[in-house]
Amino acid sequence: MSDSMDPVRIGILGMGTVGQGTVRVLARNAEEITRRVGRDLRVVHAAVRNPARLEALDLQARISTDPWAVVRDPEVDVLVEVMGGTGLARELILAAIAAGKHVVTANKALLAEHGNEIFAAAQQQGVMVAFEAAVAGAIPIIKAIREGLAGNRIQWLAGIINGTSNYILTQMFREGWDFQQALTEAQRLGYAEADPGLDVDGGDAAHKITLMASIAFGIPVDFAHCHVEGIRALERDDVVYAAELGYRIKLLGISRRRADGVELRVHPTLIPESHLLANVEGPFNAILVESDAAGQSLYYGRGAGGDPTASAVVADLVDVARTMTADPSNRVPHLAFQPDALSALPLLPMAEVESAYYLRIHAHNRAGVLAQVATMLAEHQISIEALLQKESPEADTVPIVLLLHRCREGDLEQAIRRIEALPVVARPVLRLRVESLAEQ
Ligand code: HSE
Repeated sequence: MSDSMDPVRIGILGMGTVGQGTVRVLARNAEEITRRVGRDLRVVHAAVRNPARLEALDLQARISTDPWAVVRDPEVDVLVEVMGGTGLARELILAAIAAGKHVVTANKALLAEHGNEIFAAAQQQGVMVAFEAAVAGAIPIIKAIREGLAGNRIQWLAGIINGTSNYILTQMFREGWDFQQALTEAQRLGYAEADPGLDVDGGDAAHKITLMASIAFGIPVDFAHCHVEGIRALERDDVVYAAELGYRIKLLGISRRRADGVELRVHPTLIPESHLLANVEGPFNAILVESDAAGQSLYYGRGAGGDPTASAVVADLVDVARTMTADPSNRVPHLAFQPDALSALPLLPMAEVESAYYLRIHAHNRAGVLAQVATMLAEHQISIEALLQKESPEADTVPIVLLLHRCREGDLEQAIRRIEALPVVARPVLRLRVESLAEQ
């Protein structure tokens, strides 16, 4: 290990958008960063599949095509993992931890799925695993929740944490595009993950809300029990009907602490059009946090991209450099709470979640259909707040759009099964949740 005034020696795995951004930001702001840290942050070794990628970067470092060469390099104090994936990346990070190296990672999938194992290994070795870049790119939301709000009891979080789906929903609303057209453009602009299914089916947002819930409530990371719905089932008409009812549709990650457990869910959500979150557009991210002392606080910024994500990677490097010589027990715990003080609050099944709802029902236009639907809802103690029925002379079915007052999701699911069984109902019912996001 190096002396406390020597440069901090960094090894990087992966030289894609975020890796290159990190090298650029470290070089561009080297003087400012050294003034902050009291030491230089120097990249000494980088692993890259295609070294030609580095030609424009002027990187004075050892270059390897084998990531193990970086992990095994005794010169490396801190490993930056920005290669992605949950297989090899997990092995490399565990090996780096075992070798006593600190780790900075942007890998939300890896931490959401294997975080407990990785944090336990780091705890045992007395090293840090910093992951600001894993959630919402440039927004310092991990630091805000873990440190800025450390005096609070956090009640809930709701975030627009996938820029690709937010861009798609924005374009469907603003430009009248359909889903596929908007996705193709998001890919062209470079917002989407290599597998865009992670963006539009909600997995990427689920990784991020899983990590945020853990540090907000002091619970182990449990991605397997996060409820995930994406935006593929949405039609352009839903965006229009929601607007007529005074709402915008956003893909939200939501986590709420209740007396009996924690809700952890990702799904398209209607939110009031006047709410600040409704106006977070395009590839931007924003997270709203409600906590007892601070009340509501909102964090907004760029959730993806080279320099924005590098901003978070470099902030973590600064944190690591400042505290690498500190007694590990005096550092900020990985999951914000002391590892032996994590809570066993269970994650709640969706049937136990309470929400207001939007339903789109396609029914043949016959007398008495609405009455039948209303009766079935009433039999499950579900009351209707608003109704839109769209006449369509050429179609043989009409969309009936209902806004429902808050109810238990399990009760609504039973009512929906009965409504779908009606012979006049032509297609599966689309059910979206509606959240006021009001301060409680
Ligand atoms: N693909 C992600 C998004 C960016 O669209 O927000 C990184 O998490």
